Amino acid sequence: MKFSLNVDHIATLRNSRGENDPEPVIAALLAEQAGVDGIVVHLREDRRHINERDVRLLRELITTKLDLEMAATDEIIKIACDVGPELSTIVPERRQELTTEGGINVIDNINRLKDAISDLHGADILVSLFIEPNIDQIDAAAEINSDFIEIHTGVFANAVTEEEQFDELDKIRTAVKHAKKLGLGVNAGHGLNYQNIKIFREIPDIDEVSIGHAVISRAVITGLKEAIQDMIRLIK
Ligand code: PXP
Repeated sequence: MKFSLNVDHIATLRNSRGENDPEPVIAALLAEQAGVDGIVVHLREDRRHINERDVRLLRELITTKLDLEMAATDEIIKIACDVGPELSTIVPERRQELTTEGGINVIDNINRLKDAISDLHGADILVSLFIEPNIDQIDAAAEINSDFIEIHTGVFANAVTEEEQFDELDKIRTAVKHAKKLGLGVNAGHGLNYQNIKIFREIPDIDEVSIGHAVISRAVITGLKEAIQDMIRLIK
């Protein structure tokens, strides 16, 4: 199972001061040095974290693989075709949401997604659709020539009881098997963390997980002591 790191949160922190620090591109390069298999960023319509300059710089500088999360809008598809990430992951996007809240409904948006996939394929970009672990949605993704699906793991991650967690894990296991039979690549993500990954990693045949929040949160906490000591040395 490969692991791509989402660096959106670094850009959120940078944007909170409207300055250049911390730099998401540096974070991405450090992540590559640390061994990640790819970098994920979500270029949102409202540019609340990652912006176009970040995406272009990442394209130029990273040497693993760029996964551009995006809504299937004309504006963002045009940027994606111009930038050329290895993978475009199409997600639903609502301005009011704090983060992506669930998978896209492929069946209800079939024509728009079919056109988006065809445009992205025309620019030699592989496409993944972020969906719930649902057989009908997977069939629809395969029907419109998606290369990958990314299974939304948020329900699994937020499960309160063990029973709920195992039910969702079963759904995901069945979905992965079905997608693989149809020849789709299978990624997964949302809410995966240092606890739930221990069960999640037992699911066979998932190509890659995309993780952001848990890793960036841990980095802030584990890096804090050293940052404080650096400042104390300068002050005293
Ligand atoms: N995959 C997709 C499609 C997402 O939208 C997100 C959140 O940006 C992630 C994975 C990563 O989720 P988290 O930040 O909870 O690890």
